Amino acid sequence: MAIERTLSIIKPDAVAKNVIGQIYARFEAAGLKVVAARMAHLSRQEAEQFYAVHKERPFFKDLVDFMVSGPVMIQVLEGENAILKNRELMGATDPKKAEAGTIRADFADSIDANAVHGSDGPDTAKAEVAFFFAGMNVFAR
Ligand code: PPS
Repeated sequence: MAIERTLSIIKPDAVAKNVIGQIYARFEAAGLKVVAARMAHLSRQEAEQFYAVHKERPFFKDLVDFMVSGPVMIQVLEGENAILKNRELMGATDPKKAEAGTIRADFADSIDANAVHGSDGPDTAKAEVAFFFAGMNVFAR
């Protein structure tokens, strides 16, 4: 199985709930290593650029408003099958549909405030890691 890297964001709702540590514990228990991390309060321009692929979707403004509403914790996770593994840990986009025991089922309140983001495939992961960590150290562990 290939070692992959994926981009994860702990969104403003989960940061405000003070559950960064609990979410990191789930990454670690699943064998995912944090190889880069930084906290940021995204500008509107950064959020719009990051979610540009969704700019025609009806929820785009709500999504951007939410993502700039408070600080986020951004990390690169590394491990076997990291992209899919992280998506499984996250659960479905809508927390009402997320499987019990997933991050969104346990920490998210709504489809708007859904606790975490994770890259959805290898190309996206590469682009998203570069978006937030270009020119910064990502440590081999
Ligand atoms: S995904 O993750 O791309 O498969 O999911 P998708 O359903 O296409 O949603 C893309 C991102 O938009 C967010 N989203 C919403 N935000 C606000 N309001 C509504 N109704 C809504 N529906 C979807 C969703 O959380 C995804 O954000 P990320 O950060 O990628 O998880």
